[in-house]
Amino acid sequence: AAMTEQVSYSGPQRIFSGIQPTGNLHLGNYLGALKKFADLQDAGWEGIYCVVDLHAITMPQPKGALADQTRQIAAAMMAAGLDPDTSTIFVQSSVRAHTELTWIFNCVARMGWLEKMTQFKDKSGKDAERASVGLFDYPVLQAADILVYKATHVPVGEDQKQHLELSRNVAARFNQQYDVPGFFPLPEGLIEGPGARIMSLKDGTKKMSKSDPAETSRINLIDDTDTIAKKIKKAKTDTLGDMPETVEEMAPRPEVANLVGIYAALAGMSDEQVLAEYGGKGFGTFKPALAELAVEKLSPITQKMRQLLDDPAEIDAAMAKGAEKANAVAEPIIEEVRRVVGFWQV
Ligand code: TYM
Repeated sequence: AAMTEQVSYSGPQRIFSGIQPTGNLHLGNYLGALKKFADLQDAGWEGIYCVVDLHAITMPQPKGALADQTRQIAAAMMAAGLDPDTSTIFVQSSVRAHTELTWIFNCVARMGWLEKMTQFKDKSGKDAERASVGLFDYPVLQAADILVYKATHVPVGEDQKQHLELSRNVAARFNQQYDVPGFFPLPEGLIEGPGARIMSLKDGTKKMSKSDPAETSRINLIDDTDTIAKKIKKAKTDTLGDMPETVEEMAPRPEVANLVGIYAALAGMSDEQVLAEYGGKGFGTFKPALAELAVEKLSPITQKMRQLLDDPAEIDAAMAKGAEKANAVAEPIIEEVRRVVGFWQV
């Protein structure tokens, strides 16, 4: 369980979240993260959103691909509705305080905490000895991302739950070790909601993922209308008959539950509401409706992304401004940390 504290943080509430510039964004990234970012911005939250290129190099990237991939994620954030004037959108490597705080946190986090991380086990596979040290240390960098802004809330998909708990443990231990109660907030996840865990279209027990070799397992944000419709039509269901009438009936049907969840997340409805409309109907009715809804919601974003990428000057200007704004928040905090740790003051 995460550590708790006697003295709690009393600074302002602030959101931080990040997305890796590796491969294409998919529907899971959209519903678990991007859509939430835009909704939170529109609800008035102060938010800092980051393209995490330092995280991306924990795995080898194709030569010369990093900057283009970074621009794509920035475009997706803007196309999904993040406004670079209202929110802060920037590229991680342009704010050097992330790496400095990571080193300090490396000396706060414990080996045993990192050894428990399931994502490292998954990504390093059978040959963990040959994984980069960076891949092992990845969650510490993630803690530094959040805490270098003293962010209090972190919207992410469910797969990031364990990393967030590590961030809380790092914050609590730093506060305790340096005897500065309430210095860092213990950041909370904003995870709930129907989009938190979107599954593969080919296997309802596996999450939709960039790294799945089967292209038909996911809907990419850049897929065209026909491709989206085809992938939904071919999505796996089961042989248990028509659409379930209730959430209980749906429970043993993971593929169907995933499609209903996607519909609910896209439409801003609950699973119950979707079943009230489609329960008892055939997939020949439900799947085309889902495809139409997905195209309706995603195509304006895809179009906007393409438009931004055609003339990247707007993206690049937004990232430059974002880096300035992010640095302005992070610099005083890293200075405070340097004093707390007791480094030599020049
Ligand atoms: P990344 O780049 O893998 O994913 C970006 C966001 O998409 C969410 N997500 C999903 N949500 C629902 N269903 C899915 N199938 C699905 N797949 C991915 C992720 O949960 C995430 O919110 N370590 C992070 C990036 C990061 C970060 C941070 C996040 C670095 N520093 C600080 C928050 C705060 C990652 O690799 O996300």
